[in-house]
Amino acid sequence: MKSIALRLACFALAAGGFLSPAVAVGPKTLTINVSKKGAEIPSTMYGLFFEDINFGADGGLYAEKIKNRSFEFADPLMGWSIAGNVDVKDGGPFTRNPHYLELRSAGHPHKHTAIVNEGFFGVSFEKDSVYDFSVYARVPDGGEARLEVQLINEATRGSSQVCASKKIKVSGGEWQKYTAQLVPGETVLKGKLRIFLRRPENTVDLEHVSLFPHDNLNGMRRDLVERLAAIEPGVFRFPGGCIVEGTDLDTRYQWKNTVGAPENRPLNENRWEYTFDHHFFPDYYQSGGLGFYEYFLLSEMIGAAPLPVVNVGLSCQYQNDKESAHVPVEALDPYIQDALDLIEFANGPADSKWGSLRAEMGHPEPFGLRYIGVGNEQWGEEYVKRLAPFVKAIRARYPGIKIIGSSGPDSEGDKFEYLWPEMKKLKVDLVDEHFYRPEAWFLSQGTRYDNYDRKGPKVFAGEYACHGKGYGRNHFNAALMEAAFMTGLERNADIVEMATYAPLFAHVEGWQWRPDMIWFDNLRSMPTASYYVQQMYGRNRGSRVVPTSLDGRPAAGLDGQDGIFATTAYDAAKGDYIIKIANTSSESQDIKLDFKGLKGKFTSLSSLSLHAGDREENTLDNPDIVKPVLKNASIAPSSTVDVTVPAKTFVVYRLK
Ligand code: AHR
Repeated sequence: MKSIALRLACFALAAGGFLSPAVAVGPKTLTINVSKKGAEIPSTMYGLFFEDINFGADGGLYAEKIKNRSFEFADPLMGWSIAGNVDVKDGGPFTRNPHYLELRSAGHPHKHTAIVNEGFFGVSFEKDSVYDFSVYARVPDGGEARLEVQLINEATRGSSQVCASKKIKVSGGEWQKYTAQLVPGETVLKGKLRIFLRRPENTVDLEHVSLFPHDNLNGMRRDLVERLAAIEPGVFRFPGGCIVEGTDLDTRYQWKNTVGAPENRPLNENRWEYTFDHHFFPDYYQSGGLGFYEYFLLSEMIGAAPLPVVNVGLSCQYQNDKESAHVPVEALDPYIQDALDLIEFANGPADSKWGSLRAEMGHPEPFGLRYIGVGNEQWGEEYVKRLAPFVKAIRARYPGIKIIGSSGPDSEGDKFEYLWPEMKKLKVDLVDEHFYRPEAWFLSQGTRYDNYDRKGPKVFAGEYACHGKGYGRNHFNAALMEAAFMTGLERNADIVEMATYAPLFAHVEGWQWRPDMIWFDNLRSMPTASYYVQQMYGRNRGSRVVPTSLDGRPAAGLDGQDGIFATTAYDAAKGDYIIKIANTSSESQDIKLDFKGLKGKFTSLSSLSLHAGDREENTLDNPDIVKPVLKNASIAPSSTVDVTVPAKTFVVYRLK
């Protein structure tokens, strides 16, 4: 997976040549003291936060193309259109998804019985690619029935709607799984899946109609998994976000409902269906097909430490301010047990109760879980008193697991000020901070963590994004602010253990929240400028901070520093120094990189830089407007290096 490379342009430069022709401010000296040992940079430092928002799971990362495949939506036929004689029945083969369809003869030689699925914003397919169709079926009278499954186009071009088709013979009165592979002859974004009951039109029952691209990765869209892997993330937080809480407790995320056979994982609503009524999607549900087992597998595939978050007995506090909407403290045991069982599911031996389920599902080895989040974006005394018994029980049973508590929904203010001391008292290992804030906030936070109490807990910047002016999808200037802010995360690697941008995914036709890191439709995906910032950090993490200063102060966009933010890391594996500089000003700046205490001299310099107009952003049709550019050069041996950082640019230098 790691071999999936960014398509970066490489330019060889003349020796020493990184000077921009523009008039530069400066020169400034960045003093990099290599004789002082800085903090180790945790492998988890730059990670990913996944939530099923913006059709991120069903209709997104989860590669299933059939919407409402088990007929369990509030309207069992939502997403389906029918012709002829079709009825919804109860008591199918999967007890937690009991509905199925009965297809009977249309009753006339010129009529048809058929069902058609519209997919998630269309059933999309690519010419000559292979698609795996499956359905559970039986013939109630024990005889034989014939189906024809088809991929059809929008019927706006060509002489036939049919792009691929296969006949399936169903035999006997027992439920069985039938499969077929379809290879369409054309690429279609907004197609459909159609199933005809063919003559002699004997009655047939159908359940769990499914269509996956054959090249899926453990049920996930390959292109989207590859995007994630290409960041080289250190941690993967799941499954949210607000969906952990649910609008009410009945609809909270329950991990146990998302493991075992996908056919029998009960449907849950998705609160993002109705959270914003100007982005209302009544067909937005959680099938659970992408569940906790798959999230652990995904973490493994992309090389990130898994970080599940469990419900703490609170439903969403924004929507429920009454104590009665939450679980009484004395009734928390089942919730606490869920957390303990989750740790056993991830790490327990293959003969333990929950470890054996993991083994049955195909992963006898433990997943190596080290972190658990308890509660999402909770606040107030109601959170603290519920978190306490979780901490006690997890510590008693699994002392090695690091527990993450919340500092509430705000980056500062009453809730935040109340919770941090409470988290210290409870001795959680990390505190999750969330901030969706404007440009000015990000510019002002370069030293946010410099004065945090080193005694802990550590910081998990669990959800953040610059919500910049114009509030477009992801313009470059917002990403530049994030890059600048992140220099402060790295400089404080002794106290900041991990950070994850949020949200991760958004379907261009189904979003509720923006900006987001990766946008997609059913066939394509597009990295944003923010994605590239995360990737530039993820791939250039380094192993140790090297103390770096500008005028004797941290380079953090302080007064007199002309909008320069900078940090240095040493990469022990490669022997490189990595200098990250965000020039947030409108002037190009000359900077001398002055290495104090360096033994030896540098002979090569590479720069990976990200620059675009303030409001520029990538689109699916033009995905390369904002992307990093790599330049490599040999330089005359030296322990100081002069660089010019163009205006409004984030650049990562590597010196050998
Ligand atoms: O990332 C979107 C939402 O923002 C998350 O679900 C929630 O935790 C926060 O309010």
